[in-house]
Amino acid sequence: MTQNLYKLVKTPEQIKIMREGGKILAGMLSEIEGMIKPGVAIYDLEDKFIQMCTANKVRPSCKGYAPYFLTPFPTGLCVSVNSQCVHSYPRKGTFLKSGDIITVDTVIEHKGLMVDSSFAKAVGDVDLNGMSLIDTSRQALVAAINMAVPSSRIGDVSNAMYKTAKSKGFDVLRDYAGHGIGKTMHENPEIPCIGKANDGPELIPGLTICIEALTCEGKPQVDNVDEWETKMHDGKRFAQFEHTVLITENEPEILTTL
Ligand code: MF3
Ligand code: CO
Repeated sequence: MTQNLYKLVKTPEQIKIMREGGKILAGMLSEIEGMIKPGVAIYDLEDKFIQMCTANKVRPSCKGYAPYFLTPFPTGLCVSVNSQCVHSYPRKGTFLKSGDIITVDTVIEHKGLMVDSSFAKAVGDVDLNGMSLIDTSRQALVAAINMAVPSSRIGDVSNAMYKTAKSKGFDVLRDYAGHGIGKTMHENPEIPCIGKANDGPELIPGLTICIEALTCEGKPQVDNVDEWETKMHDGKRFAQFEHTVLITENEPEILTTL
């Protein structure tokens, strides 16, 4: 189990490129975060993102992404509002309103290597449970990242995420997971949001993994609306934070941060 992960260890040159890409992505997401306000056209976030990709000479990797004969993903950003869930996409003619919870998730390719990150944000005034959902998702990601050290197994990372969500009365998705990343958007290992401590493959220095805190307010069951858009089955809300993280000999290094 552990052995095949050695093939995924990045070279120092690849790590340097992913560090650069991570900083570019963090800068772009922080611009987009600054645009989020009641009344904003959701598609303006997409337009801004595509402009910034051009300016930074990076490729918006989600746009046109088409695994297993799916319809190519329509946009550069994944945007989910309230009960919308993973890889939903922005539509023209829709607007943010006070009380919404928005998640923005995206991947860019810089010099042949990808980085992936997401954040959730309150639009205007959000109720207490909604604020707690966002906070908890952020904390669940932090707790998971803190376990991303060479002595850990993937189950330790997943378990820390799950326990954090549960301790605040929330849950995590079961049908989707984090993943390794590099020349392709999704590579091994899979990083589930729920797992057993001391279980699964051991993390090794040089791995680059996307840890995704896919946090939900109610039950974790997800429905497909179309090939890409998903919704929480119970209509309750969803909030996601994600970082691309480098496993090192010491502390984990978050690549998708400023
Ligand atoms: N974080 C998401 C993922 O890992 C971002 C890509 S979704 C895409 O699946 F399908 F739109 F590309
Ligand atoms: Co991802």
